[in-house]
Amino acid sequence: MSEVERPIEDLRSSKGELGSFAGADMSTGLIWGIKRSFLAYLSRMPDLKSSVSGGASVAPELGLYHFPLASSDAYDYGTGQGTLKFQGDLRFSGHFGFLFVMLVDPWVTFDDGLATLSFHDVEADPELADDSARRPMLGLGYPGYVDAHGIRDWQLIPTSLRTEAVSVFNEVYPPGELFEPLHMRVTL
Ligand code: HEM
Repeated sequence: MSEVERPIEDLRSSKGELGSFAGADMSTGLIWGIKRSFLAYLSRMPDLKSSVSGGASVAPELGLYHFPLASSDAYDYGTGQGTLKFQGDLRFSGHFGFLFVMLVDPWVTFDDGLATLSFHDVEADPELADDSARRPMLGLGYPGYVDAHGIRDWQLIPTSLRTEAVSVFNEVYPPGELFEPLHMRVTL
């Protein structure tokens, strides 16, 4: 287990114990709060279990998750097209196992005017043996960025749920439902 990996734990009892993004290098990476009302729903579950591993970290008091940059090899800094690969593994379970949400290795892809956040498709590949199975989860407002001090920085990218990911949330949220905005920083 790496030092940022943590065992399954209760989000509520972790408040104040882990601190904000404990152990994480925040100079680059992707920061996302999933959906505030979903985290509030989870926090009301008496049997909630959650885990944050694979490089991801959490600021429980802010309801934000950080995924470090894994690779920008497939991203073209000149054209702004391609894929930025972040890594990390979030899991939530509750309702005696009826609810299980797993969000693994977010990638952001810029493709000809469309920006998409995808996750590893754990249903297609539960053993995580092949990273080519991806599930688009969010459509992103096509974001502008700032290049400064050796960092490319995107702030407050609007996000909305893609049709392909409606089943992840038990079809409670319709396509187009607003999720929390994304922040991203990568080295230039
Ligand atoms: C035993 C099975 C389940 C029961 C009894 C149940 C019950 C409920 C109830 C009562 C609410 C509304 C109350 C509240 O906001 O606190 C709710 C909302 C919700 N449930 Fe479930 N649920 C179940 C399974 C699931 C599963 C499998 C998922 C998959 C992720 C899920 C996702 C959601 C979502 C996304 C919301 C809306 C949260 C929000 O944004 O306000 N539920 N559920």
